[in-house]
Amino acid sequence: MKTLYDTKQATLFGEKTLEQEYLELINGEYGFSKQIDILDKIDWDFKDFSTQYLTHKFHSYPARFIPQIPLTFIKIFTREGDTVLDPMCGCGTTLVEAFLNNRNSIGNDFNPLAVLISKVKTTLIDETEFRYLNKKLAVMKQTIFRLRLSKNRK
Ligand SMILES: C[S@@+](CC[C@H](N)C(=O)[O-])C[C@H]1O[C@@H](n2cnc3c(N)ncnc32)[C@H](O)[C@@H]1O
Repeated sequence: MKTLYDTKQATLFGEKTLEQEYLELINGEYGFSKQIDILDKIDWDFKDFSTQYLTHKFHSYPARFIPQIPLTFIKIFTREGDTVLDPMCGCGTTLVEAFLNNRNSIGNDFNPLAVLISKVKTTLIDETEFRYLNKKLAVMKQTIFRLRLSKNRK
């Protein structure tokens, strides 16, 4: 099947990257039959797309979604202000994409680690607080390093 953003087509016209073409596609407003048509035309491998942007790269939780998978469904089937539910949210890929696209989200998972990672990835931290915590972490890191060094010398 020919996708709307296959490599050959993009090279022929040479103006847009595959990602730009994809983003234009999912940013449109469509009626139901066109929405289904678009799902058919998408190449779900998202080969060579960036997938580790922002907080998506925080943890290598197993069996994660490629962010573009929930992004596509969020963009095509919901509007800003809607609420997206992921009942088995894992490390929160869907929740992050909902947040980035001005949707509310609810995540659930029976693995406490998944819940913690999802919370971390979707919580906004004030810049001053962030700098403060970053400094504290650097001091802790140095202390641990020194302790290890002195232990190894004994
Ligand atoms: C493949 S991961 C989901 C990944 C997530 N959609 C993402 O891309 O970040 C599947 C998750 O479902 C959770 N899970 C499986 N069965 C569950 C259940 N009955 N109730 C709640 N969570 C469940 C697992 O703990 C796991 O984190």
